[in-house]
Amino acid sequence: MTVRPQTRIETATPADADDVLRLLDQNHLPLDGLVDHIATTVVARHNGVIVGSAALEIYPDGALLRSVAVAPQLQGHGLGHELTDAAIRLARDLHVPAIYLLTTTAERYFPKFGFERIPRADVPPTVQTSIEFTSACPSSATVMRKSLSVADESCPRESPSTASGAWDGLHCVPDGDDRTSGSSTSTKWPVDRKPRRTC
Ligand SMILES: CC(C)(COP(=O)(O)OP(=O)(O)OC[C@H]1O[C@@H](n2cnc3c(N)ncnc32)[C@H](O)[C@@H]1OP(=O)(O)O)[C@@H](O)C(=O)NCCC(=O)NCCS
Repeated sequence: MTVRPQTRIETATPADADDVLRLLDQNHLPLDGLVDHIATTVVARHNGVIVGSAALEIYPDGALLRSVAVAPQLQGHGLGHELTDAAIRLARDLHVPAIYLLTTTAERYFPKFGFERIPRADVPPTVQTSIEFTSACPSSATVMRKSLSVADESCPRESPSTASGAWDGLHCVPDGDDRTSGSSTSTKWPVDRKPRRTC
């Protein structure tokens, strides 16, 4: 199944909020606080329908990445990767020093983007004011951090024409990236998760 040709990754608008909340609900992720951060949310539209999201909550000393979700029928085709890349790019554009996240389901998904597990106490105070930290996620959730530096960028921001990959809207697709084929069909994690709220 090919996903990308019909799918656009773009910044959400306020009018997208209900659809994003529906997607989060479908994936049992927290809804609280998302609307306040819709301006720093990226979405995937597949034939005009929102099928993916990734939101950044911006604080003075860092950003919280949350609401990374893909419609169940489109999972496993690279969309989550593209959305996460787009959110990281947005954080760089906003000169955020580091991105934090909380997860109860995907601590093995995020290391490929440079996220490392850290103690909760290492999260800066302003980031800890997020609803995800104060109430929406369990205190047992895994905390992860990705520090941002220019050296981490896979494509130069200032001169896309000299990048080693191709720019496609919000993200860079490195040379040799075969995710454009959309040929992946495997799903290696439990698909029958209980309808409980996760992070
Ligand atoms: C997590 C999620 C966003 C990933 O998006 P996706 O488009 O399905 O994933 P991608 O196609 O980018 O990546 C697929 C790869 O990630 C792995 N993967 C997907 N979800 C994973 C998870 N929760 N934990 C560990 N690995 C995961 C797949 O096994 C696959 O691995 P492979 O490339 O070795 O075959 C998506 O599965 C989702 O919406 N899950 C429910 C909501 C959720 O848990 N979000 C995370 C909140 S912090």
